[in-house]
Amino acid sequence: MGSIQHTDDARARIQQAYLDIANPVFSAAEFTLIKVFIDYKAFDAIPDEGDIAVSKLAEKIGGTHEVVDRITTFFIAGKVLASTGPGRVAHTERSRLYKYNEPTAWLYIHMFNNTFRSLAQMPNFFAKHGLASPESASVTPTSISHGFDNRPAYEILVENKGIHKGFNEALKAVGEMYSLKGIYDFGWMRESLASESRPAVVDVGGSHGLALRDAVRNNKFIPAERCILFDLPQVIENTKKNVEKEQDEDLQKVQMIGGTMFEPYPETAQGALIYQFRRILNDFPDEDVLRAFHTVRKAVAPDTRILIIEEMLNPKRMPMNVGLDICLMCKAGKRRNAAMFSELAAQAGFKFNAEFQQISSEFDDFSVLEFVVA
Ligand SMILES: C[S@@+](CC[C@H](N)C(=O)[O-])C[C@H]1O[C@@H](n2cnc3c(N)ncnc32)[C@H](O)[C@@H]1O
Repeated sequence: MGSIQHTDDARARIQQAYLDIANPVFSAAEFTLIKVFIDYKAFDAIPDEGDIAVSKLAEKIGGTHEVVDRITTFFIAGKVLASTGPGRVAHTERSRLYKYNEPTAWLYIHMFNNTFRSLAQMPNFFAKHGLASPESASVTPTSISHGFDNRPAYEILVENKGIHKGFNEALKAVGEMYSLKGIYDFGWMRESLASESRPAVVDVGGSHGLALRDAVRNNKFIPAERCILFDLPQVIENTKKNVEKEQDEDLQKVQMIGGTMFEPYPETAQGALIYQFRRILNDFPDEDVLRAFHTVRKAVAPDTRILIIEEMLNPKRMPMNVGLDICLMCKAGKRRNAAMFSELAAQAGFKFNAEFQQISSEFDDFSVLEFVVA
């Protein structure tokens, strides 16, 4: 009797362990295989209406029937794809989001390359460097995941064309999220803009220029010609091409300068009324944030204001941002609160002035921190 009871208990424990592990393992498998199918444009090869034979799908994307059958069977089980009959598949509402150029597809590509691969290397990172957050952007789970012992995360990102495109397109897809309309009042600039010819806003790490466009469109007194998009040279090159292609009226007028926030700002980008850092400083460890503050301090005028627009560390914020903090850890970044930014800014000669919060909507969950010269 005792031994039967023992066997039943053991079976129950094993069953529980299997059920518990199934979720994370199969989620990881699903994420990986969706990324694979996006790479092979398999979701585009499935017709919008009707269905397709798995053998035909395999032929279209250049895979063996055997492997495509195994993957689609897995997708059907997870309701990523629908089964319409033996050996046939069709889209679901979900799988349509994975077609090439859909924002969701770019986020999958970006998150797979820059977060998922890095997460798998976290145990190795901690074993090698101790259980502490990465302190240098060069020695991180992300660098290990790309085969480097010592290389800054952004260099890895920028030098790999495919990975960089995934990152850039993902940024574009979410770039409209953080509008400052109704959150931050640019009105204080009016007088200086009218009486002086200095730059208005320098958007440091401005990527596609969507933050600048938001500022210019919602504040007609800010001339686009006096705004500067400042980002890594490769990013600026790409943005210029996009703006040219899309003929965006506002962005065509914006000045675009390639460079890095760690080197002295070029003459034309000095003395601006505002230097804004939107969703860039959280990507970096304290030592780099401090470096960026020191460099921008040398470019400012006495009345310049610095804006930091970031998801903030605050227990009341949305759970998504708590998760994103772990993604940031992969590359030595972290979420901070106003006090943490203020402490770093003070070391470089800036004084905290105000915090403008946007925590009311489901997606926009950020603050604008305003600093002035100390
Ligand atoms: C997470 S993205 C945010 C982009 C944009 N500000 C936004 O809110 O959508 C970070 C940006 O910082 C840029 N960046 C990274 N390192 C930089 C550096 N050293 N100097 C200037 N920009 C940098 C990246 O190229 C990228 O465009």
